[in-house]
Amino acid sequence: MNVFESLERWRTYRRTITGSVGFVPTMGALHRGHASLLERSVRENNQSVLSIYINPTQFNNSQDLCNYPKTLDQDLAIARRAGVDAVILPRYEDIYPDGYRYQIDETQFSNELCGAHRPGHFTGVLTVVMKLLNIVRADRAYFGKKDYQQYLLIRDMVDAFFMDVEIVGCETVRECDGLALSSRNVLLDEQARKLAPHLNALLRSCATDQQIADKLECMGYAVDYIVTRHGRRFAAAMLTCGDRQVRLIDNVEIN
Ligand code: PAF
Repeated sequence: MNVFESLERWRTYRRTITGSVGFVPTMGALHRGHASLLERSVRENNQSVLSIYINPTQFNNSQDLCNYPKTLDQDLAIARRAGVDAVILPRYEDIYPDGYRYQIDETQFSNELCGAHRPGHFTGVLTVVMKLLNIVRADRAYFGKKDYQQYLLIRDMVDAFFMDVEIVGCETVRECDGLALSSRNVLLDEQARKLAPHLNALLRSCATDQQIADKLECMGYAVDYIVTRHGRRFAAAMLTCGDRQVRLIDNVEIN
């Protein structure tokens, strides 16, 4: 597995690749959910590329950015096991030589759900994904459906800008108790970890959005939103762990 800290070296290597390229962009702290994206990419492409870059422009809260887990050695071991061919580790200067002067703004759906609670978040996500897709020049890029709003916005951005890449949405990987895998789960303390699976269980129940929000608030969650839209129920809610708040998101298909 080749690890590129220099984008110059990556570009030289990229020119030597023949056949299809699969790409999994991440912010590191990889878990089984990421591993399943990587394994699918390896199955479906001649070469697979992983990027690890904690993108500051998508964090509207500096504490959240500071707390974001960093586990590079473990991430590289997971990538190697999955059969990844290349890992790119860009730095801020590589991604934002323009100092974030140019941005990708979606003007409708990005202001709803998570976007309504995290100003600027999706502009940061779409901008970095556009840049990474241009750097990697993949045939297929893989995204988890846990971040369903992100997946839809990226898929539609690729259509809107006539980008020559297939966006592949992959099912959410869960713990046995239903908790959606997330890099932030390692930040949950024992008490919060016990409460965390209730989010998914309630989303699957026949209660109304408002009843679910009320139940979660009673348990100690701070609810950002529970919203049913387009045949899916979306949720974001925070659990307090010591002096920090850990934000969980999830969504389920409604029959
Ligand atoms: O889902 C993520 O980990 C990030 O939002 C992404 C797509 C890697 C962009 O930074």
